[in-house]
Amino acid sequence: MVDEKALTKREFDLLRKFVYTNAGISLSDQKMALVQGRLSKRLRTLGMNSYKQYYDHLVSDDTGDELIHLIDAISTNVTSFFRERGQWEYLKIHIEDIFAKRSNSAFRIWSAGCSSGEEPYSIAMFLLENLPAVSVRQCKILATDISADILRRATSGRYVAKNVEPLPKNYVSKYFDRDRKSESYQIKAFVREMVLFRLFNLVYGNFSLFTNPFDMIFCRNVMIYFDTPTRDKLIAEFARVLPPGGLLFIGHSESLTRNNKLFRMIQPSIYERIG
Ligand SMILES: C[S@@+](CC[C@H](N)C(=O)[O-])C[C@H]1O[C@@H](n2cnc3c(N)ncnc32)[C@H](O)[C@@H]1O
Repeated sequence: MVDEKALTKREFDLLRKFVYTNAGISLSDQKMALVQGRLSKRLRTLGMNSYKQYYDHLVSDDTGDELIHLIDAISTNVTSFFRERGQWEYLKIHIEDIFAKRSNSAFRIWSAGCSSGEEPYSIAMFLLENLPAVSVRQCKILATDISADILRRATSGRYVAKNVEPLPKNYVSKYFDRDRKSESYQIKAFVREMVLFRLFNLVYGNFSLFTNPFDMIFCRNVMIYFDTPTRDKLIAEFARVLPPGGLLFIGHSESLTRNNKLFRMIQPSIYERIG
């Protein structure tokens, strides 16, 4: 069993340097207790009894899987359907205009840091409800995350009752199949098919892979983990794939830094790419 006091400052520094170098996540000194608390469970699972042993395992793991376990342990995957209500209210008013001004024949939306899928599936349901005349084949939703584990859950589209039941009843019946035996809900295939899930690291990923521009990017409650230079770099990458008029949605507790000259704020947490 791991001694709760076993994480030394030196081990913490090694771990945080590794996390910053490989995922752009910056951990302040105040996060030491949190890292120790969250990681002790992972050490128990691996049958390890020191954080140095864990660090050695982490750096020698060429698959990158342990990094994902570490990120899952220290960050939060918390998400929900139709999170950030004000943004959906804004979209309800403007979605037809945004769709009309799209930059391709397809309407392209990116959910960057999509966690277990509630965000991209909310986008899909929103489009089905609010652009009823538009063919689903015209709407392409790309959903990416750094965690393969969380993407597996997202792709399955299966959710426990307490996450689905707050949705309006007509959404639940139209877009989910209920499994009474396991008390869970499964997103229907036609909604799942609107979303393409992919692994992508927002800090070290190759953005030149995105050759077609997006009309909207949702990157909500992800940048909270990044320091200012990392955020600025990410915003510049988003600006490259969002043509003028394209929209960027971030979390309500986040904001673009003062260095930003690429976007103008429409309302808190909603930004438009400047031409
Ligand atoms: C709190 S969740 C936010 C989910 C959703 N966007 C929302 O607002 O409900 C943050 C997500 O960001 C992902 N993440 C953290 N660092 C990342 C990185 N460097 N690249 C891609 N995704 C990352 C995490 O795996 C997690 O699923």
